Amino acid sequence: MRTDTGQLFRLEDYRPTDYLIPETELVFDLHPERTIVRATLVVQRREGVDISQPLILDGDELKLVSLSINGAPLGENGYQATPDRLEITDLPEENRFTLEIVTEINPTANRQLMGLYRSSGVYCTQCEAEGFRRITYFLDRPDVLSVYTVRIEASKQQAPVLLSNGNPVETGDLGPDRHFAVWHDPHPKPSYLFALVAGSLGSISDSFTTRSGRKVDLAIYVEHGKEARALYAMDALKRSMKWDEDAFGREYDLDVFNIVAVSDFNMGAMENKGLNVFNDKYVLADAETATDSDYAGIEAVIAHEYFHNWTGNRITCRDWFQLCLKEGLTVFRDHEFSADQRSRAVKRIAEVKTLKAHQFPEDTGPLAHPVRPRQYREINNFYTATVYEKGSEVVRMIRTILGPELFRKGMDLYFERHDGEAATIEDFIKAFEDAAGLELSQFALWYEQAGTPNLSVSFDYDAAEKTFAIEFEQSLKATPGQNRKKPMHVPIEFGLIGPDGREIVPVSADGMEVTGNVIHLRQRNETVRFTGIEERPVPSLLRGFSAPVTLASELPREDLIFLARHDGDPVGRWQALTKLLTGKLIAGVKRVRGGKAPLIGVDIVGLVGEIVADETLDPAFRALCLTLPGESDIAREMGSNIDPDAVLASRDALVKAIAVAHAKPFAMLYDALVNRGVFSPDAASAGRRALRNSLLDYLSVAEGNPSRAAAQYHASDNMTDRAAALGVLVHRFGGSESAAAALAAFEARFGGDPLVMDKWFSGQATRPGAAALDTVKDLMRHKLFSLDNPNRARALIGAFATANQTGFNRADGEAYRFFTETILKIDRENPQLAARLLTALRSWRSLEPVRREHARAALALIANADKLSTDVKDIVERTLG
Ligand code: ARG
Ligand code: ZN
Repeated sequence: MRTDTGQLFRLEDYRPTDYLIPETELVFDLHPERTIVRATLVVQRREGVDISQPLILDGDELKLVSLSINGAPLGENGYQATPDRLEITDLPEENRFTLEIVTEINPTANRQLMGLYRSSGVYCTQCEAEGFRRITYFLDRPDVLSVYTVRIEASKQQAPVLLSNGNPVETGDLGPDRHFAVWHDPHPKPSYLFALVAGSLGSISDSFTTRSGRKVDLAIYVEHGKEARALYAMDALKRSMKWDEDAFGREYDLDVFNIVAVSDFNMGAMENKGLNVFNDKYVLADAETATDSDYAGIEAVIAHEYFHNWTGNRITCRDWFQLCLKEGLTVFRDHEFSADQRSRAVKRIAEVKTLKAHQFPEDTGPLAHPVRPRQYREINNFYTATVYEKGSEVVRMIRTILGPELFRKGMDLYFERHDGEAATIEDFIKAFEDAAGLELSQFALWYEQAGTPNLSVSFDYDAAEKTFAIEFEQSLKATPGQNRKKPMHVPIEFGLIGPDGREIVPVSADGMEVTGNVIHLRQRNETVRFTGIEERPVPSLLRGFSAPVTLASELPREDLIFLARHDGDPVGRWQALTKLLTGKLIAGVKRVRGGKAPLIGVDIVGLVGEIVADETLDPAFRALCLTLPGESDIAREMGSNIDPDAVLASRDALVKAIAVAHAKPFAMLYDALVNRGVFSPDAASAGRRALRNSLLDYLSVAEGNPSRAAAQYHASDNMTDRAAALGVLVHRFGGSESAAAALAAFEARFGGDPLVMDKWFSGQATRPGAAALDTVKDLMRHKLFSLDNPNRARALIGAFATANQTGFNRADGEAYRFFTETILKIDRENPQLAARLLTALRSWRSLEPVRREHARAALALIANADKLSTDVKDIVERTLG
């Protein structure tokens, strides 16, 4: 492991390289513990660069075997090599020369899963962000684009499949035991997009014909025996390829497109040119082993990586500060794809929930950073919800401001101008400015200022003048390194609803810019006045969640109830209902802390029942409305002095009140929604399952016993229903015989499949209450568990720390101490994973004082440990900072 170097990287220090590497030829002689890499690089000195400028290449834990220039070995005085740097001073006079570097690496010992490593015997690579330098010395930065030719030599038996980027060129025999394959990628690319896979794998294949008639061979490689579980991913890939042509006019550009699923992977997946490497979690699915949300996740990630071919690969990032240029944009594209494949409104609500759950806490906590950060110590710690999810929201706002046609025109211009280049956020914004003839400099603050803006809103109806005024005040709190903030351009989609539930179209609006159904807020304080309003309207603001802001509006409760019933925008309906429920839940928390029982009014209980019973609504939407804000949602809205036990008590009380009040109709609906016919993962079927499984939870609470959930568990023919039943058994009736029986049945059935067993680990880790800690400790000794495997670690440790508020935040601080020790263990092998898991403590300051002090002490233990990785040191210091 590399320990911290203390180096800080700054955007303003960006400088192009003195040398370029237009061509890269790599020969891999693959052996599990001793792989030899011969890199032959065509190096080009940039015009104007003096010959005295050394060539300095990045490395990381490399062993240099030999070095030559233009075929002649380099003398010892001509260079300086350490495991993480190669500086060559003895350079030829000509501006173009060939550098040959031979390095030796050990894929088996590579447990940080960066560079070339082995996963279940399969050689694979992960080079983003800085993994390529663990393979050979290179200008390992995204603005150095090179054309790659790759030759792989390996054992025929261990690695019958040999893959790299681009198109296949040649394969052949090397005697009885070994063979080779050559790949060539004609598209210049940065090193982070390099990939190699070699191993014994099963596969499925298919093809796609692009709109200009190019036939592309598609293949997905998986562990032998799991081929059938890749069919859904293949279907999603073909739909993605078609969609990118239809929605963005983007066509695929190689003869083949390969996907490989591996079981040890730090992130979701990686968009390497023509050879995407995936966490198997985002490839493998069938009714028996995957839930509806697994299917949706696969569809989204397959699309995301495919869409990167244009937004990321053909146009890449100039430097890592521009990460959101490819990630935010590509998330936006995969969101749009899923919205088109499924229900747009339901998809949007799910996005808003994810953003609020993961990005909002980042923005209000110690790890807050702008969508485009200006500095970092460890780039791997910036693959965040802010860069990805908020980055996507910013692109979405550009479309809202420009409208769909000009947005598309801007995207086309961006592709036209920057294809084949490494671009910046400025380039991206400029394309929209030029396409639309607009000036977006204030809007660009969304990339620069961290934090979630808050809008305070008040309303005034003047019956005599028939005017309706909305007054806005925007504010943005200080975040690390940014004390003073400027007002932003916030596009607010809105509607005015009359007493009869119909939309009111105002005669005119003045005081602020209003285009169509969008109010453009630009100043700290602004008021818009609508005229020709015959009756006092109910305003629906931030429809579609048109901007990533919080809204503090003084709308009366009756208006919120009205919106929850009548807003023509489903997102607006859901937002109004959520606001009502959250208010009720927070009031309940306060009563519980004061030693009293929560008060639950009949109106809100009735409202939930009404929406759930409304057959004109999409079941998936009703399921979203029936699912109360989670414990961490409630905590986030409260903001400070959180007592997770009181939060849980308040939430459980509301669940119970709703369950008891509607037990009869809920039971009838539960029966009516039963699955008929064969399982299909389509959105409509998934929506019915979601509603039915949410009802199962309520009914089990109302009935006070596990029989219904146990019956569903044993009768299920699909994982969605089975996992939901297991969840109710373990979370509501943990420790009961029924829960134990279901857990044993699950283990007996899926014990041979670690990926499926992750659900079993998470289910137990998230059982509310203090007892979960002992369960987690026991499960760490389970034969299928290993801290080295990121999916296992996330399923058990990650789920416990992020999705078990009462268990993780035990009042005695024991869980924090256990967590600290575990993070330090993981950090020795896989710093990236350790750092990511550690962010679970980022909101420690919002806890009540006793827990807060325990959390601080646990963080201090990490901060004071010796030999921390750069990754963990960076997170722990900023978290405490
Ligand atoms: N570019 C990948 C994706 O979003 C993520 C890779 C992140 N890798 C890392 N080591 N941080 O699709
Ligand atoms: Zn991505």
